[in-house]
Amino acid sequence: MDEAKWAKHYCSDHEILLVGEGDFSFSLSLARVFGSASNIVATSLDSYELVIKKYARARTNLDMLHKAGAQLLFGVDAMTMKLHPDLHWRKFHRIIYNFPHAGFFGKEDDQLVIDKHRYLVLGFFENASRMLRPGGEVHVSHKTTPPFESWNIKELASRSFLSLLECVDFKIEDYPGYHNKRGDGCRSDDPFPLGKCSTFKFVASSTSNISDIPRHTRPPCMNNKECHWIFKEYLDQALLTFGKHDDYLCHSVRDTLEIGFERCKMVNPANPLNEYINHVKELHEKSKERIAYLQKLLLEVDRRNGL
Ligand SMILES: C[S@@+](CC[C@H](N)C(=O)[O-])C[C@H]1O[C@@H](n2cnc3c(N)ncnc32)[C@H](O)[C@@H]1O
Repeated sequence: MDEAKWAKHYCSDHEILLVGEGDFSFSLSLARVFGSASNIVATSLDSYELVIKKYARARTNLDMLHKAGAQLLFGVDAMTMKLHPDLHWRKFHRIIYNFPHAGFFGKEDDQLVIDKHRYLVLGFFENASRMLRPGGEVHVSHKTTPPFESWNIKELASRSFLSLLECVDFKIEDYPGYHNKRGDGCRSDDPFPLGKCSTFKFVASSTSNISDIPRHTRPPCMNNKECHWIFKEYLDQALLTFGKHDDYLCHSVRDTLEIGFERCKMVNPANPLNEYINHVKELHEKSKERIAYLQKLLLEVDRRNGL
């Protein structure tokens, strides 16, 4: 077996997801150290066409990553990525978003602009927290000077039951070949001044238990002929998880019910809760019917075996 290779916090043995890449030079800098990119899934919100238009080096970087075995995905929104068809059910050891930024909408110290950035990071954490392998980490590199420190990354992470493992200085020289990008506007390809910045590392907090989730933020469950579509993952997972232990079930059931809630939000963004509650009621009724059916089957088996 090949010896594991390390690029600062990242290892060739990790399954790594990179979110919000600019010109993909960060992914490539890891791949160079690893000697391969087969453990890397590198993503951008933009389409392939837009990425190569925005960043002069992107086409070359993407070609090299592709040859090294990376999975490259475009149109991946950090705020909904857990629902992306190629990421569904995938779990990672490391999920990295370097310098999240929602775009240039005005002065960076304007509270409305700060709120836009916070909303992006909040959505990213909510998704990433569902995509971690046991013991996995979510990493965000971020500027720590005003006004960026007021995004309060740690508090945003805590809302998705992620707790800070450590916060270490981010040094660009640790990642040879990486070029940080503004990523938006007419100077997308330009670097932005890094100044003082850190990599915030988060892990699933040990208190992240379904009973800790306040009732008003916990998605309720759902109803009718759309029920199967809404809860497709739940029903698929019910088959897959048969015989697995409780911890696994608790996690996967919660995830799959939440995917259903996200679908309800897409269909009815103004008032998803009522629809969701109705769907959950129907799912519950179906579950009770299935339990009754299985009990009948088991009794029949016992009867035949003379038990
Ligand atoms: C400041 S740039 C940083 C780019 C790159 N990570 C780097 O370090 O050079 C912010 C990045 O966030 C991306 N972004 C903004 N909103 C996003 C979203 N909802 N999902 C994924 N990426 C997003 C932008 O496309 C841009 O590439």
